[in-house]
Amino acid sequence: HTAVDIITAKRNGHQLTTQHISWMVNAYTAGDVSDEQFAALAMAIYFQGLNDDELLALTTAMLNSGTTLSFSDLGKPTADKHSTGGVGDKITLPLTPLVASYGVAVPQLSGRGLGHTGGTLDKLEAIPGFRVDLTEAQIRAQLLDPGGVICAPTAQLAPADKKIYALRDVTGTVDSMPLIASSIMSKKLAEGTDTLVLDVKTGTGAFMQDEAQARQLAQKMVWLGQAHGVNTTAVLTRMDTPLGYTVGNAIEVEETLEVLAGGGPADVVELTVTLAQHMLTGAGIDADPADHLANGKAMDAWRAMVTAQYGDPDVPLPTPSHSHTVVAEHTGVVTSMDARAVGEAAWRIGAGRQYQGQAVQATAGIRLYAKPGDTVHAGDPLGTLYTETPERFETSAQILQNAIQTGQAFTAPRLIVDVIS
Ligand code: URA
Repeated sequence: HTAVDIITAKRNGHQLTTQHISWMVNAYTAGDVSDEQFAALAMAIYFQGLNDDELLALTTAMLNSGTTLSFSDLGKPTADKHSTGGVGDKITLPLTPLVASYGVAVPQLSGRGLGHTGGTLDKLEAIPGFRVDLTEAQIRAQLLDPGGVICAPTAQLAPADKKIYALRDVTGTVDSMPLIASSIMSKKLAEGTDTLVLDVKTGTGAFMQDEAQARQLAQKMVWLGQAHGVNTTAVLTRMDTPLGYTVGNAIEVEETLEVLAGGGPADVVELTVTLAQHMLTGAGIDADPADHLANGKAMDAWRAMVTAQYGDPDVPLPTPSHSHTVVAEHTGVVTSMDARAVGEAAWRIGAGRQYQGQAVQATAGIRLYAKPGDTVHAGDPLGTLYTETPERFETSAQILQNAIQTGQAFTAPRLIVDVIS
């Protein structure tokens, strides 16, 4: 077979064998299959889909494209979570120290922003000195004490995903169920965790906007995890509205500190506690995770983690040079605050990148003052945009203004839609 035969077979709707799939993945990772060939295969998969055998073969080939980690010698349970991507989704920041504070090792290998969605690593780098590039030895040391680590995946971990992901980002093949499932699960299985909790988003700000499709994605990822012996649970959650009142980098760290201090927005706390509960249960620990938010133990674990990763938890976060506030045009109840649009406004103002490798602005972001269901009066502030590049205010302010709609009444849907295990 050749790459062209394999692409053509998938284009025509035929099933690929495990050998075909692993050959393509390995050849692409090695540089023997070109970007345009793998992009064509990704587009064929986008339209034709993959059956279960093909999906498992693709995930396994991507997982085996590099080295895998194992933490079974640490003498403590390991648990990890992954979100399919959201807006204002800072949950990894409070969640990792919270779960670690119960004696669980949390090897939280995370990503950077993608399109309208924010990246955990970009947010953490807003903390002066904080480092996300750690060696495997450092990751291990930190899993023993303080127990939580949030860092970039090592270069050898699922290299096929790094290449394929970058290609999908520029070829319109991100929002494909089998490509998302294999991307996420290859990385997470390579990480060697015992328990995995997936936060699968649905709604306007999610990659899989449609709930039925998001549910199917969750089911496939749980199945892939179980097939590889990882205790996997998926929580299906709404992503129509940003999580919390902040979207951006330093500003999301600030909100994380409120949660760790026992306060913070109700939705962020609810999701953090729910995901923590699933991680603790998977790790065999019977506890109410809200306790360590209330008594400061999660904050202690956060401070220890930041210190271990070369940050200073007492140094103030950087503050933005410019701000611009968008106000309500009409009096009424906020009926929608489109997560995708708010994410795009934050991205354009400098919280995200316009091209690969571009530095993000630590201080860029948006502070929101209302949630759907709240009443606002004409002239009330709806959101403040922050940036170092004020020439970008105009476009982002317009997007933010359009993202927030008012009307007569609103009933909020439940944040947590379902749990799939
Ligand atoms: N997150 C990932 O890691 N991969 C995807 O394909 C989508 C979201």
